[in-house]
Amino acid sequence: MSKLLAAAALRIVLTLLALCACAAPRVRGADDYTAFVYAGCSQARYDAGSQYAADVDTVLSSLTNSAGYTAYANYTSPSAAATDLVGLYQCRSDLSAAICGGCVKSAVTKLASLCNSAAGAAVQLRACFVRYGNDSFLGRQDTTVLFKKCGGESGDTGVIAMRDAALGALVAAAAPADEGSYRAGTAGYVQAMSQCVGDIAAKACSDCVSAASSQLKAGCGYASAGEVYLGKCYARFWSNAAGTGPSNGGGISGAGAGNVGGGGNGINGAGVGGGNGYAYGFVPHTYGEHADESGKTLAIIIGLVAAVALVIIFLSFVRRAGGVGGKS
Ligand SMILES: *[C@@H]1O[C@H](CO)[C@@H](O)[C@H](O)[C@H]1NC(C)=O
Ligand SMILES: *[C@@H]1O[C@H](CO)[C@@H](O)[C@H](O)[C@H]1NC(C)=O
Repeated sequence: MSKLLAAAALRIVLTLLALCACAAPRVRGADDYTAFVYAGCSQARYDAGSQYAADVDTVLSSLTNSAGYTAYANYTSPSAAATDLVGLYQCRSDLSAAICGGCVKSAVTKLASLCNSAAGAAVQLRACFVRYGNDSFLGRQDTTVLFKKCGGESGDTGVIAMRDAALGALVAAAAPADEGSYRAGTAGYVQAMSQCVGDIAAKACSDCVSAASSQLKAGCGYASAGEVYLGKCYARFWSNAAGTGPSNGGGISGAGAGNVGGGGNGINGAGVGGGNGYAYGFVPHTYGEHADESGKTLAIIIGLVAAVALVIIFLSFVRRAGGVGGKS
């Protein structure tokens, strides 16, 4: 009888474990990769029911469809002669196509809600960037600073040298020209990464990363983390000091987001000048609200492990009690 009970309980625990094993990382990944960074919408608007409106729909759904296959794509609307409309997306090119597809889908949804009927718009989520418009941005270099954030004053002068070395490695990295050239750099316990938009050439990508790196060096003081988003690339660095540890392996988003907190200097409407043509007005961002997510996930996992251990101890107790009862 008690053996039956124990077997039933064990089956329930195993089912729970199986559920957690697949559900927990998926929830976490979705949270990190589609977290909102910034968005911008043009002042110019299109009319509902116009050719332009139809083209925006076509472009965005074509981009969404490609995102399950490649990290970068551009799409020109069939009636581009009339509307000049072009769209593109760029995923962080070290991530899987499945993550890319999910991210671009969220980004397009976000654009529809934040930049409804804007002639041009762009949105950056953690793992992807989507932009469309009739302002001839495709293939054009753009190092306008769109969004910048530094956080976690460390007061650690060691971090500065490591940060500069890690950022330097990004600039020096031999650039695989395709799909936006994801780059990573490490120095001591500071890591850095950068990502270009795939419509610019390798040299332009290096120049953009170099500009991003200068922005971070000049603007982030003693911060232990920082990130800057330019028109055609972005770069981030973060410190793994105090044993955030190797568990953060691919966890750029986790580590970075965890450290970046407050003190960001916003968008300041820059970039109208210089012929770069990124004259979009920016919508207020909610960046940083996911900062504690990885910590929360960890706490939940630890709690689960403790619960399972307790259940196992309880089960072995029940089984022993059952065995004793059977003999007497
Ligand atoms: C882009 O499209 C909008 C909406 O149709 C229009 O107002 C604007 O003049 C266009 N801009 C260019 C450069 O064609
Ligand atoms: C745009 O996409 C086409 C293929 O769809 C590609 O051949 C072309 O190089 C792309 N242009 C840019 C600037 O990325």
